Amino acid sequence: MSRERTLSIIKPDAVRAGNIGNIIARFEREGLAIAGARKCQLSQAEAEGFYAEHSARGFFGELVAFMTSGPVVVMVLEGDDAIVRNRTIMGATNPANAAEGTLRKLYAASVGENAVHGSDSPASAAREIAYFFRAIELS
Ligand code: CMP
Repeated sequence: MSRERTLSIIKPDAVRAGNIGNIIARFEREGLAIAGARKCQLSQAEAEGFYAEHSARGFFGELVAFMTSGPVVVMVLEGDDAIVRNRTIMGATNPANAAEGTLRKLYAASVGENAVHGSDSPASAAREIAYFFRAIELS
């Protein structure tokens, strides 16, 4: 087990539905602490930069349009094995395949509008955390 930090985003669909509190409460209940958090409206350039690895995919335009359709909450979660544990709590990318009780099963409507994002590896976590936060903003 290793102490890790990972980036989490509560996406515009979950913010619009009033699920910020439910999602943060779930992370805390599962032992993932909030090391930093900010509500913000992503610009097109910010969303494109964040998802740059998907820029050649057919759904990229749709993804950027959705992620800029309203405010998001960007957070750094911290805890033992936080990267994998966050992904387990989120469930499969497509809510149709997500396990019962996962955030995407509970709160997501489709693969495109899937309530939450979580870093998928230590390298992604490092890049994604640095994309949104300075070290001084985390504790
Ligand atoms: P996320 O974990 O934020 O990382 C990339 C996102 O691309 C993913 O969640 C999905 O929301 C989105 N995505 C993946 N596949 C599709 C798809 N077929 N159509 C629309 N969006 C998708």
